Amino acid sequence: MKRFILLALSIVLLGTLAFAGGQPDDGKLVVGFAQIKEDSPWRTTETNSVQQEAERLGIDLKLSVTEQDGQISAIRDFIAQNVDGILLAPQTRSGWNEVLGEAKDAGIPVVLLDRGVDAPEDLWVTQISSDFAYEGREAGKWVAERLNGKGKVAELYGDPAADPAILRSEGFMEIMAKYPGIEVVESKTGEWSQDKGRQVVEAWLAAGIVVDVIYAHNDGMALGAIDALKAAGLNPGEDVLIISVDAIKAAFEAIDRGDLNATVECSPLLGPLGFEMLTKAINGEPVDKYIINPDALYDESNYKDHPTGGF
Ligand code: AHR
Repeated sequence: MKRFILLALSIVLLGTLAFAGGQPDDGKLVVGFAQIKEDSPWRTTETNSVQQEAERLGIDLKLSVTEQDGQISAIRDFIAQNVDGILLAPQTRSGWNEVLGEAKDAGIPVVLLDRGVDAPEDLWVTQISSDFAYEGREAGKWVAERLNGKGKVAELYGDPAADPAILRSEGFMEIMAKYPGIEVVESKTGEWSQDKGRQVVEAWLAAGIVVDVIYAHNDGMALGAIDALKAAGLNPGEDVLIISVDAIKAAFEAIDRGDLNATVECSPLLGPLGFEMLTKAINGEPVDKYIINPDALYDESNYKDHPTGGF
């Protein structure tokens, strides 16, 4: 019996030494990634970018893909597991103060990927994203030019509480305000999804609403709009001009077919910068508060020049 107790104690002691601080003591960084559950190719490409970079760097990645409540629980799980750092793609802007405060109290740095939050800046290390207001302004300038300052526009936005939806609208409307001859007659959510985008445009058409331009806040919703217009016997890209955001591969194919007119880039390839900044923070090195990806507008004149051929 004595020998059995001694053996059990040794196993517990060895286990404690090998898993000091909750981490396997193999020198690997352990990082949690709280990703948004969203049915879009853009989101999948972002997740792949993070997973591939983690693999390249030999980082033990704990991936969670959920809606916002699940993201908050996932962060609490990561804290309980005493991870070295956390990457967070926040679904909406609000509701993060408490859990980010818990991560801060636990000494775990959090890097925001692709979207911002309204939580105080001392609760997170850096935000790595596109300039969404700039994307909206670029789309607005393109619309104003194509319409020659006169016409009807409909907007398809994503989740109204999400950072990119808010800022892409603000940027777009800032430009529209300069053109009294352009009327934004509809503005509805397509929830970032192709299917929902299609349904919204179908409803517009059924109600007799036909516009000159549809501005969709992502390519997925624009592809849904294209489906709806075609099903109604209209010619997307000609009868109704369409501009969107993201520059995914399917959008470039749609530009190639003449269905989509333009897309403003928004890079999902955030894994490398995400880990670079998180590692700096873990090592106590300074990191810029905002790291903005440069984005360009692509249409039929230049889409073939995109460095990756679309995301
Ligand atoms: O946060 C980035 C945006 O979120 C992308 O434009 C969109 O496709 C995604 O839903």
